[in-house]
Amino acid sequence: MSIPAYYNGEYRPLEGLMVPIMDHGFLFADGVYELIPVYRKRPRCLDDHLERLKNSLAAIHIEGAPEEPVWREICARLIEQGPDECFVYFQVTRGVIPEGAPFRKQFLDGPPTVFAMAQPLPKRPDSIHAITREDERWGRCHIKSIMLLETVLATQAAVDQRAGEAILHRGNEVTEGATSNVFAVIDGRVRTPMLSLRILPGVTRKLVLRLMRENGMEYQEGRLSVNELRRAEEIWVTGSTRGVMPIVELDGVPVSNRTIGPVAQRVRGWYREYCSTP
Ligand SMILES: Cc1ncc(COP(=O)(O)O)c(C=O)c1O
Repeated sequence: MSIPAYYNGEYRPLEGLMVPIMDHGFLFADGVYELIPVYRKRPRCLDDHLERLKNSLAAIHIEGAPEEPVWREICARLIEQGPDECFVYFQVTRGVIPEGAPFRKQFLDGPPTVFAMAQPLPKRPDSIHAITREDERWGRCHIKSIMLLETVLATQAAVDQRAGEAILHRGNEVTEGATSNVFAVIDGRVRTPMLSLRILPGVTRKLVLRLMRENGMEYQEGRLSVNELRRAEEIWVTGSTRGVMPIVELDGVPVSNRTIGPVAQRVRGWYREYCSTP
């Protein structure tokens, strides 16, 4: 089945779409993106994803991107053509340096490049191992930027050690996963790093916190140290394509006896119920 896509105002299959060489996204990773999971043709938390996209665009001063109703329309059209369980990906870059214009890293007058597609959701295991790694990304990780080199390196480092995620830390302070937010149960209490410029405000994180509140489960947003993480009773990470994903081994050391702990089970149950409810 071909992948339905959208490129600068036109709906076309992904196959054959090409990026102009002089696009700021291609040359400088000058752009932002968003990823929305779709269950039974229903986008999860679309409002939150669109708000974060708007914030990311504003943060890097890209103007002229589609307004919210247009994004909704693109999303609906791609879902219509895509598989029942998929994710819709949006990307906006600053656009193409016009022919004859100087090759400089500065804002452009022309329109941004707008791309979207609907891909099948990847199959995920029931639980994963994780490694820890120094967070060497830039200082504005709240922006969902396409500048993902350190994310690629961290993800590969995890894969090289047969792990499914790298949990990042700045010194002794846990920030987030390479592509996820982190939760831990420590001394019986659910903890997660507070929002800051150093982490992405995950839509799944926000939803999980809401589900915990609605179900009367207490939690604490604040600082989380690597030492605390190492003695956690349970750890899980959250993300749009992973949902709630338990970590059963950290740097080769078992977590929760290599089983999915009771708190993670409950939280994942609420999350799955939310996603499967029409
Ligand atoms: C660095 C980072 N943190 C957190 C997340 C989780 O965000 P969300 O739940 O919105 O997918 C992602 C998802 O890609 C990410 O890349």
